[in-house]
Amino acid sequence: MPRPAAGGRIGVLLGAMTLAEKIGQLTMQTADMAISGPGGLTSEYLDAVRAGGVGSMLNLWGAGRVRELQRIAVEETRLGIPLLFGFDVVHGHRTVFPVPLAEAAAFDSDLWERTARAAALEAAADGLSLTFAPMLDVARDPRWGRIVEGPGEDPLVARRFAAAKVRGFQGGDLAAHGSIAATAKHLVGYGAALAGRDYAQADISERELREVYLPPFADAVAAGAAAIMPSFNDLAGVPMTAHRPLLRDLLRGQWGFDGVLISDYNAIAELVQHGVAADFAEAAALALEAGVDIDMMAGAYTQGLPAALERRRIDVALVDEAVLRVLALKERLGLLDDPFGRGVEPSPGPEKAHRALAREAARRSLVLLKNDADVLPLREGARLAVIGPLADAPGEMRGSWYGAGPAEETVSILQGLRAALPEGSLVHARGVAIDGEGPEDIAAAVAAARAADIVLLCLGEAAAMSGEAACRAEPGLPGRQEELAEAVLAAGRPVVLLLACGRPLVASRIIARSAAVLVTWFPGSEGGHAVAEVLRGRANPSGRLPVSWPVATGQIPIFFARRPTGRPADPELHYTSKYLDVPTEPLFPFGHGLSYGRFALEDLRCSAGEVAAGGRLDIEVDLANEGTVAGLQTVFLFIRDPVASVARPVLELKGWQTAWLEPGDRTTLRFELPADELAFLGPDLAPLLEEGGIEILAGPSADRSLLLSTSVRVAKDREH
Ligand code: NOJ
Repeated sequence: MPRPAAGGRIGVLLGAMTLAEKIGQLTMQTADMAISGPGGLTSEYLDAVRAGGVGSMLNLWGAGRVRELQRIAVEETRLGIPLLFGFDVVHGHRTVFPVPLAEAAAFDSDLWERTARAAALEAAADGLSLTFAPMLDVARDPRWGRIVEGPGEDPLVARRFAAAKVRGFQGGDLAAHGSIAATAKHLVGYGAALAGRDYAQADISERELREVYLPPFADAVAAGAAAIMPSFNDLAGVPMTAHRPLLRDLLRGQWGFDGVLISDYNAIAELVQHGVAADFAEAAALALEAGVDIDMMAGAYTQGLPAALERRRIDVALVDEAVLRVLALKERLGLLDDPFGRGVEPSPGPEKAHRALAREAARRSLVLLKNDADVLPLREGARLAVIGPLADAPGEMRGSWYGAGPAEETVSILQGLRAALPEGSLVHARGVAIDGEGPEDIAAAVAAARAADIVLLCLGEAAAMSGEAACRAEPGLPGRQEELAEAVLAAGRPVVLLLACGRPLVASRIIARSAAVLVTWFPGSEGGHAVAEVLRGRANPSGRLPVSWPVATGQIPIFFARRPTGRPADPELHYTSKYLDVPTEPLFPFGHGLSYGRFALEDLRCSAGEVAAGGRLDIEVDLANEGTVAGLQTVFLFIRDPVASVARPVLELKGWQTAWLEPGDRTTLRFELPADELAFLGPDLAPLLEEGGIEILAGPSADRSLLLSTSVRVAKDREH
C-alpha cells in the first residue's frame, strides 16, 4: 500500500503539530452558504479555524469570503496551514450545466470533460479548491432520487464519465489556479439502496460489485482523482465509512490510490446509528483504520480520536498517515506555496463561452422519445399553447446541485420559446402546481389548448424531487399533473409532452397518448433556449437514454445488462419469467432516442473471425443519413457471450461512436475491441478469456430487434 512520504516540508509540518492540530487537519467544517446535510456548526467555524481545529471547509465560496478565511488560517493559526475549500460543484458552478443523468445522454466524453473544465474554472475563481464530484454510482432504480446525479445504469458509461470528469475538473496540473481536486463518490454500491430508499442498506454479490459498481471508481483512480468519498450505505452489514477491505485493502492497497478519503457528511458519527460503533471513539477508530482521512461534519475525529488513542484502540501513526495525505493534497493543489492563488477578486461573472457550452450541453442532452407523424419540429406559424407547471420555472431548470447558479440567470422553456418565436405565437397557462399545492386553473389550460394548433405540455418533477434524500416510491407525475394532462389531451390537439425530470418517470398512459415526447431533464442555465432550438428544428435531437425507461414501477430495478433466465418471457407460456400485468421490457430501452429524419445502419463486420488472448478485433459498420436533416447519430456496440462457464448478460455494452452526417452522407464507424474485453470474471471471480463464440452487435439502442449482429470465436489459449 502506498504510504504518504513523511519527508520534505509536510514532514516538517507534521513534526511540529500537536495532536489537536493534527486532528484539525482531518476535520472538515461547513459554512452556511448552502445546506447539504443535517445540523451544522455554522457560526462557530471561525473560532475553530483560528484554533487550528479545521483543515478544510465546505459550503463557502466567493473570492472575498474565501480569501478572508484563508487569511485567518494562514496568518492567525500557529502553523499557518491553508484550508481546502470544497463544494458540490457537480454540474456547474455559476453556469449550470444539465444534471449528470441528462449530460450522460449526450454520450460524449469530450463534452463531459469540457463542462467539468468550465465548472472548475468558475469554482476556482470563486476560491474553491475541491469538488465533491464526479458522482459515479451506477443506478438502476429510478425510485432512488440520486439517480439524477450520476451517469445512469451502465458501468462502461460510468467509467468513461469518471475519466472525463476527473480530467476536466483537475486539468493537466492540479496546482494550476483553474484546477480543482475531484472527489469520486460514493464508493460503493450506494445506488443499490434497498427499495430505492436513500441511505438504506445495499447487498450486492461479489460479482456485481466487481463487474458493475467498482469499475467506475477504478477508472477515476486511474485518471488521477485526488479524492474519494465512501458512501453512506452499509454493504452486507459493513458501513462503507468503516469498510477496511474495500477502502484500505482494495482501493489503497491493490489500486494504489494515494489520495485523500473524505467521509460523507456526518457519516463517521453515523457509524453509531449503523450499529457498528458504541461511541465516537470507536466510530473514529473504525473510520481511520479503514483509511478515511477527513471527517466531514461529524465532529467524530475531534471528539473521538483522543479517546481512541487513550484507550490504545489505535496508534498515532494512523493519525499521522492521514494528516500527511491531507497535507500532500494541499501541496499538490499548490496551496502551501500560494494559498490565495484561487479566487480572483472581484469574482468574474460567468463567461459567455460557458453559456454557449451550457446551451450545447443542454441541446445534446435532450432525448426525443417519440414523434408520431413527425409532429416535431414545429411547423412555422403554428399557434402554440404552452401549458404546465414546468413551462416557466427557471429555478427548477437548474436541477439538484446548481452550485452558485442564480435562478434569474436561467432560461425557462417559456422564455426560450418567447425569445425564439415571433410575438403572439403562443399562449401560456400553468394549469396546476408541480406538486398539487397551490392555485390551479385546469379550465384555462384547456381553453388555451383548444385555441392552439399544438400543445406543448410541460410536466414533470420539481428539481428537489430528485437528488439526495429525494426518493419516490411512485416515480410518476406528481400532484394533479395527470389530471391536467387528461383534460388537455381531451381537447383534441396534438400534444408534445416535455418531461422535466431527474429520473425516468413512470407516466406510460400520458406518454402513449402524446404525439411526441421530449425529455428535457433539468437542462441548466441555457435549457429554455436549447429546448426551443430543438422544438423548432434549429437543432436535431441527439440525446440517448442512459437508463432504461420503465413501463411501470413494479419493473424496477430495470436495466438492459441482465442475465438470461432459464425461462425467458413468453406471453403464450405460463411458466416463464414475466409479469401478468405489465410487460417485461422497458417502455424505452437504454440508448433510445430519436432524431428528425432517418439514419440507417448496415454491414456490421469484423476484421477477423477469430481472436486470441492479446489480440484485437476491429469492427466496422456503415451509417447513412437517409433523411433530409443533418444530425448526430450514436451507435452502440454490444457483445453477448451465449455459452460460458458463468451466465453472461444478454447484452454487454463495449463502446459507442457518434457521427455527424449531412443528408445523403454515409460514413464507416470503427470500434476497437481488444480480446481482453471479451473476458469476464470466471466462476472463481478471476478474469477468464474463454474459448468459444461471441456475438458482436451494433445498433441504436439496447432493443435487441434493432441490432445488427455478427459473430467471432475466441481461440483456445495456446499457453494452457
Ligand atoms: C452529502 C452527499 O451524500 C454528498 O454527495 C455531498 O458531497 C455531501 N453531502 C456534501 O455536501
